[in-house]
Amino acid sequence: MDYISQFEVLKSKELSLDLTRGKPSEEQLDLSNSLINFDEKSFSSHGIDIRNYGEVKGLEACRKLGSEILGCSEDYIWSGGNSSLSLMSKFLSFLFIQGDESGPWNNKERVSVLCPVPGYDRHFKLCETFGINMIPISLTGEGPDLEEVRTLVESDESIKGIWCVPKYSNPTGEVYSLEVIEGLLDIFSRSKNKGTIFWDNAYAVHDLSDQILLPDIFSLAKDKDCEDSVIQFGSTSKITFAGAGIGFIAMSKLNQELFLPFYSSLMIGPDKLNQAKHIRFFQDNSLREHMKKHAEILKPKFDLVDQKLQLQDFGTWTKPAGGYFILYEAKHGNAKKVISLASELGLKLTPAGATHPYGIDADDSYIRIAPTACTLEELDMAMDVFLCCIGVAQEQSDL
Ligand SMILES: Cc1ncc(COP(=O)(O)O)c(C=O)c1O
Repeated sequence: MDYISQFEVLKSKELSLDLTRGKPSEEQLDLSNSLINFDEKSFSSHGIDIRNYGEVKGLEACRKLGSEILGCSEDYIWSGGNSSLSLMSKFLSFLFIQGDESGPWNNKERVSVLCPVPGYDRHFKLCETFGINMIPISLTGEGPDLEEVRTLVESDESIKGIWCVPKYSNPTGEVYSLEVIEGLLDIFSRSKNKGTIFWDNAYAVHDLSDQILLPDIFSLAKDKDCEDSVIQFGSTSKITFAGAGIGFIAMSKLNQELFLPFYSSLMIGPDKLNQAKHIRFFQDNSLREHMKKHAEILKPKFDLVDQKLQLQDFGTWTKPAGGYFILYEAKHGNAKKVISLASELGLKLTPAGATHPYGIDADDSYIRIAPTACTLEELDMAMDVFLCCIGVAQEQSDL
């Protein structure tokens, strides 16, 4: 059957499918259900009453859990809130109001941040909300293109930082190489701008099969005497519960001293009951074994998308070893068309352009596929719809 006929058949099915957001599936969330049922016998953690205010930086054992996830010393880590994004927004607020050594970002005519593309739409949204000018930077498969970064940082003093998702980058799935990490540290620590590397390590332990260990950026930075250039983020959103997990922020001693007065003016203490539950949960379950259970659920979904995409030869796609996304690169000029056709068939996809600052993918080619949240059966159907839509889009563009 040709693509147009397939399209009509699929349309008559009145499907309702969704590959938009990188959310854990119900089956994954069930892995952490014992968190809900914890019956706390003691409300004390190392002499701290966890029902009360206080411990702004988070419970010590929870910070230790953060260090196990992010792979750096617990001395750098604070645990707080239920998401890393809210910690990112708090840190940006701090930079705008109080600022780094060059003063509050609020006073500057223009503040720019480098955004490796294709990248994470919520980083871009945060920048837009704060009025930060976004400058796209190419990714090489091993992280940002260092030459591009260096040239821009040296020539534009408004550049105050760079967003990085160093492991299983959203959405390209790439892992930054040691050379790139060291290069970024060199560029940002030596520049006049003294920019910040926003190290969003959201997928630090989210391997699909073999474990990949990312070098600890703080150890590398310490050797280069530039620890203050890095702010690291992470969370348990895709380890336990998205929305009811723990957020982590990690930074040098100096940055902690600068940030603490601002941070503690925003709240009197984090939810230590949830932190205590997470501590207990990971005393009973090893983090590594727990993440293997996630991988057992996720890998067949990534494999299925890969198998289905092999049935077409209109575009290329990534084969990530972890994380939450597959990135499809359609024939230039076709992404919007594919997404709109998919929507006609009841398949929701992330809007075209979401992978780029200001929603502008000049080539109109990238489509982010988030295969995690749906069941395998739904994914199978969703990929049939997707294949049909790329076929129809191709046929129409050939006319
Ligand atoms: C790169 C990246 N950072 C942060 C987040 C959100 O994390 P959190 O739930 O901790 O705010 C996501 C979620 O998809 C993500 O992909």
